[in-house]
Amino acid sequence: MPLRSQEWFGRTGKDGFIYRAWMKNQGFPHHLFTGEKPVIGICNTWSELTPCNAHFRDLAEAVKRGIWEAGGFPLEFPVMSLGECQIKPTAMLFRNLASMDVEESIRANSLDGVILMCGCDKTTPSLVMGAASVDIPALVLSGGPMLAGRYKGKKIGTSDLWRFAEDFKTGQMSQEEFVAAEACMARSIGHCAPMGTASTMAAMVEALGLALPDNATIPAADSRRKVLAHMAGIEIVNLVRKGVKPSDILTRQAFENAIMVNAALGGSTNFIIHLLAIAGRVGVDLTIDDFDKLSAQIPLLANVQPSGEHFVEDLFYAGGLPAVIRELRGFLHNDAMTINGKTLGENCASAECYDPDVIGSVEKPFKPESGIAVLKGNLSPYGAVLKPSAASPHLMQHTGRAVVFENIDDYKTRVDDPDLDIDPSCVMVLKNVGPRGYPGMPEVGNMTLPKKILDQGVHDMVRISDGRMSGTGFGTVVLHVSPEAAVGGPLALVQNGDLITLDVEQRLLHLHVDEEELARRLASFQPLNLGYDRGYVNLYIRHVTQAHEGADLDFLRGGSGPVVRRDSH
Ligand code: FES
Repeated sequence: MPLRSQEWFGRTGKDGFIYRAWMKNQGFPHHLFTGEKPVIGICNTWSELTPCNAHFRDLAEAVKRGIWEAGGFPLEFPVMSLGECQIKPTAMLFRNLASMDVEESIRANSLDGVILMCGCDKTTPSLVMGAASVDIPALVLSGGPMLAGRYKGKKIGTSDLWRFAEDFKTGQMSQEEFVAAEACMARSIGHCAPMGTASTMAAMVEALGLALPDNATIPAADSRRKVLAHMAGIEIVNLVRKGVKPSDILTRQAFENAIMVNAALGGSTNFIIHLLAIAGRVGVDLTIDDFDKLSAQIPLLANVQPSGEHFVEDLFYAGGLPAVIRELRGFLHNDAMTINGKTLGENCASAECYDPDVIGSVEKPFKPESGIAVLKGNLSPYGAVLKPSAASPHLMQHTGRAVVFENIDDYKTRVDDPDLDIDPSCVMVLKNVGPRGYPGMPEVGNMTLPKKILDQGVHDMVRISDGRMSGTGFGTVVLHVSPEAAVGGPLALVQNGDLITLDVEQRLLHLHVDEEELARRLASFQPLNLGYDRGYVNLYIRHVTQAHEGADLDFLRGGSGPVVRRDSH
């Protein structure tokens, strides 16, 4: 098969002149354009505004070395980069926009294959979604986790921020100590050090078979990350020569593997939304119920924050993701194909666990319960999610009085009001932080508890919202309630004083208000006027799907393939 890039560079006459001539201003000799060498795009999310990916230009050089070595022709290009801690109002608002950038950039250019350079949370799903909708050979290279921080002699990572925030609120930590902890936490290149969303996504692509073994856990600062980048460069050229596309790898079995591996890792709840969106791009029939069903038998193996005590760096030293996958071999589809031409099982066959305190076994897991509980009931007819490994056992079956915050501003205004009528048995309810309601579904679901509750020494309460929570967050937090309040979901109808039951074992989320009363409340429901009458956010609000469907834009589901329909010049 002639290379796709020859549709650009292989032309004669004026067209070929135009496609080649300007490229030659970078010093590329003519023989690179004659169709011997696959053209490999390096889709780079480098940005100083995405600090987790700030080392990617350096890393891309290692990728290029591998591509050259394997006989390819590397061309690096930038796409929209989403820095989780910088972008307002929330990076999730732009995940789908970035995926459009990636999709159109790949399709419109003279590429035979592409390396997707991902790191900070949304940079992985946006690149995978975009590339899947084009479906030319693609391989994911993650940037790697940070080294764990050290503060006052203790290892720290992003999950500690939530504890520090509570200590700061109750006066146990000063502003000076807070600033000192900042500098200690993010002390090296790379993304968040716990099993937050970034590392969860890196593990997701490895379990899906879209990345090389060890992609998820080699620290960013470790020289072996560059070796991996070099090998990724070699492998993508092989993939192009073999004609292996994302759709060949992203089978139903691959998605099931990713769900089971995520369960064993205690990965982020954001995984659900992103995996559903990716499945929607490749036409794999995946539902929110699959996450609960498939993780039900899987024990929590990884003793890594936020569900445990160690960091992703330690997971690497203990054997990395291959050791986890090998331990799960009795559950997984081991014959699922991966991008290096070997099956998932073959890739991990010789992996060993070097530290059973970090990677438990199926017989002796870190915790017996893992995964995601999908809760349904009259408060969440399409589902809501809770991460049992990060929740408090004594709250897993709980009935309490609702204390309602109508939106995030209402929460911020009233949460620390000494007159707020709340006690530790209450259920905190936050509305209008879903995909449409915020808009963008921010990570505010693990609301910091009211100061008066923290002052009592209480650190967890049942919290319910239609928003998300940081992958580094924890607590008995019910998230992604669908349908969301902003579209008139039952969450919109909850009032102060209503009783709510959470029963994780029964997978139930129930509002103790009779149907007649709910119908009466629904009749007076007023949709929010979000006030975005132009631009991308207007498009987003009109087309975003609900959380249980992956919160993609409805018209982006599926793919359009690699063919450029109108070919001018
Ligand atoms: Fe980038 Fe956590 S802020 S991974």
